[in-house]
Amino acid sequence: MAEHTTRTVREHYAKLAEGYDDGANAACKRAYERLIPVDLRGCARVLEIGAGASPLLDAIGAPFSCGADLSHAMLSRRNAAAGAARVVADMQQAPFPPSSFDGVYSLNVMEHVPDPAALLRECHRLLAPGGRCALITPNGGVAGLLELLERLRLKLPEGPHRFVDTAELRRHAEAAGFRVERIETLLAFPAGPDALVQFIDRCCAGKFGLFLHAVFVKP
Ligand SMILES: C[S@@+](CC[C@H](N)C(=O)[O-])C[C@H]1O[C@@H](n2cnc3c(N)ncnc32)[C@H](O)[C@@H]1O
Repeated sequence: MAEHTTRTVREHYAKLAEGYDDGANAACKRAYERLIPVDLRGCARVLEIGAGASPLLDAIGAPFSCGADLSHAMLSRRNAAAGAARVVADMQQAPFPPSSFDGVYSLNVMEHVPDPAALLRECHRLLAPGGRCALITPNGGVAGLLELLERLRLKLPEGPHRFVDTAELRRHAEAAGFRVERIETLLAFPAGPDALVQFIDRCCAGKFGLFLHAVFVKP
């Protein structure tokens, strides 16, 4: 695996940016579209960390929204006309004042950040009291299976990464000062109709999933 630093992550996404969205899994996208707007319901100022070109931020439709990404190449593929502000930055050291947002989320970003504890401290700092933080990241508890799927070309290459598991995610969130509302497994079988995907997830709840879905609240 490539050396995992902020520089190598930026270089990886500079190469991957063109056509990135074409490779995204449809069942995963549907799950993100279903969960994140509920997690951040009522948040007036929403920040997406590692936003890339994902259209979800615009679909949430908060009165103020901002997409931040380390990679200019990924961020420049966003639909500029849709209205969210765009900021190129390493969100381990975010260029925003404290309490700038009511909701923060990230989709498949945590695993690429060399210092996930720093990222969660920044999420906490950026949120106003009562603010909500939602994360989806591959489940480090099944890292071997995720790597096998990548070798079989059943998922996009991760590039530089380190997966986190439930225990590490909880530890960083609590150390940052968050109350953990939930950390659940997600997408045990990310293929087929949504009803089937959700049924399998209900059967596997807490036992197995390729992803983790976490919601933290700033007291
Ligand atoms: C797997 S892609 C996901 C993109 C988008 N969230 C989506 O679901 O389509 C990971 C994204 O995180 C960004 N990223 C990685 N490390 C970052 C950091 N330290 N700060 C901000 N963005 C970062 C990458 O540049 C990339 O766009």
